Amino acid sequence: MSPSDDLRVFTDAGELARAAAELVLSSARDAIAARGGFHLALAGGTTPRAMYVELSVRRAAEAGFEDWHAWFGDERGVPPEDPRSNHRMAAESGLLGRLPAGQVHRMRGEAPDLQREAERYERELCSVLGTPPRLDLVLLGLGTDGHTASLFPASPALRSRRWVTVGQAPVPPHGRLTLTLPTLAEARSLVFLVSGADKAPALAGVLDSTGAAVPARLVRPRAGSLIWLTDRSANASRPSEPRTA
Ligand code: 6PG
Repeated sequence: MSPSDDLRVFTDAGELARAAAELVLSSARDAIAARGGFHLALAGGTTPRAMYVELSVRRAAEAGFEDWHAWFGDERGVPPEDPRSNHRMAAESGLLGRLPAGQVHRMRGEAPDLQREAERYERELCSVLGTPPRLDLVLLGLGTDGHTASLFPASPALRSRRWVTVGQAPVPPHGRLTLTLPTLAEARSLVFLVSGADKAPALAGVLDSTGAAVPARLVRPRAGSLIWLTDRSANASRPSEPRTA
């Protein structure tokens, strides 16, 4: 873990979700005040769902979502109605329905040619954000193998110099769409959400020098911030007593 990284440890998944929602809301307020809009890339999997539910309620009560844009850090190569779809997970949380439809930028996992869809999404990203595409906040998860987004160990996607590419997962659906390391590096803020004892070895490997150079360790902001939001069970393998928020 580099000295500039910010590690925050919460009691449990519920407290982690509430803290993550607060961090996103604060980032949104700052981005909208500074640039008139908030561009958030959503993580997939299961960890962020509780936070998306919290966000959809908290922000609706606060100021609304008309200035928000939702992007995706990655998507499985499945249609949006598939139970494995990250878009479906975010939609079912209630979050996506709160945003203007034209401001939810879906990765089309159903595309027959994922490489062409990666190129299309990259054009959409750059047409809205410019080049390099600077997202305000990118939410990321951590796999037990150290993957993040759909950047898996030893995959060619890790070497991509594009902004969006196709990632190959070791488990089905194998074909995925993913933001690349260069795009993550350009983000103003990178926030990892890591919860659960099953992630403890991967988290220790990523944050401590002992770990292999797994994809999550390769995520480095060029000029932005990197924040780890974790819970105690995910920190169980850490040698030092982490600072508890
Ligand atoms: C995906 C995610 C992936 C996820 C991690 C952690 O498409 O699965 O983007 O990177 O964040 O695998 O997943 P969990 O939150 O389900 O543990």
